[in-house]
Amino acid sequence: MDIQLATRPMQPDDEERLYRLWPRLSPDTVYRRFHSPIRALPDETVHHLVDVDHDRREAVVATVGDEVVGVARYDRSPADPSVAEVAVLVEDAWQGVGLGRQLVTTLADLARRRGVRTVTATVQADNDRMVWLIRRLFPGSTMTVDSAVYEIRSPLTEPSAGTPEPPATAGATALLSRWG
Ligand SMILES: CC(C)(COP(=O)(O)OP(=O)(O)OC[C@H]1O[C@@H](n2cnc3c(N)ncnc32)[C@H](O)[C@@H]1OP(=O)(O)O)[C@@H](O)C(=O)NCCC(=O)NCCS
Repeated sequence: MDIQLATRPMQPDDEERLYRLWPRLSPDTVYRRFHSPIRALPDETVHHLVDVDHDRREAVVATVGDEVVGVARYDRSPADPSVAEVAVLVEDAWQGVGLGRQLVTTLADLARRRGVRTVTATVQADNDRMVWLIRRLFPGSTMTVDSAVYEIRSPLTEPSAGTPEPPATAGATALLSRWG
C-alpha cells in the first residue's frame, strides 16, 4: 500500500500528537532514545520538544495523516552554536522504511544552513540501525565508546553558495510503500 508521508518543522499544536505517539513506542525504542526506561512521557520533555525557535533549537516531525510518527531534533550548544546535539526517534511500526534517514537528512540540512558545523549524538553501541545511519549520512564521524555508549561527533559540510533556506514552516512529502 502507498502512504503519503510528510516531513515538516515542529509546530506548537504538535504537543497533543506527541502525547498520542508515546503509547505507540516500545520500551526498547524509548530506552534507545532517552537512555532510560521512562514510562510516562514527562510534560517537560514535550514542552522542550515543541519549544523550538527554528535556529538555536529545531525539531522536524514525520507525519502520516494527522499523526506524528517520527521526530528528530537538534539543540545548539550555547557555548559554541556551531555544535548541535541531535536525537531522533521513529515509532516502531514505521522503523526500517527510511524515515530516520529522511528526518536526519532534513534536520542536518537546516542545521548546516544556519552555521552548524559539527553534530553530536549519544548512541548505544549496539544500536546498529542508528550507527549505520550516522556512518552513511556523515562519513567523517568519530565514535568514542564509553560504557557501551558511543559519543559521536560528525562534521557537516558547508551548504552550496546561494542555496536559500526554506521558510521555517516548509515541509516535504513523499510516497512510501509499506507492507502490512
Ligand atoms: C534509529 C532510528 C531513528 C532509525 O530510523 P529508521 O526509520 O528505523 O531507519 P531507516 O529506515 O531510515 O534506516 C536507516 C539505515 O539503517 C539501515 N538498517 C535498517 N535496519 C538495520 C539493522 N537492523 N541493522 C543495521 N542497519 C539497519 C537501513 O538500511 C538504513 O540504511 P540505508 O540508508 O543505507 O538504507 C529508529 O530505528 C528509532 O527510532 N530507533 C529507536 C530510537 C533510537 O535509537 N534513536 C537513536 C538515538 S538518538
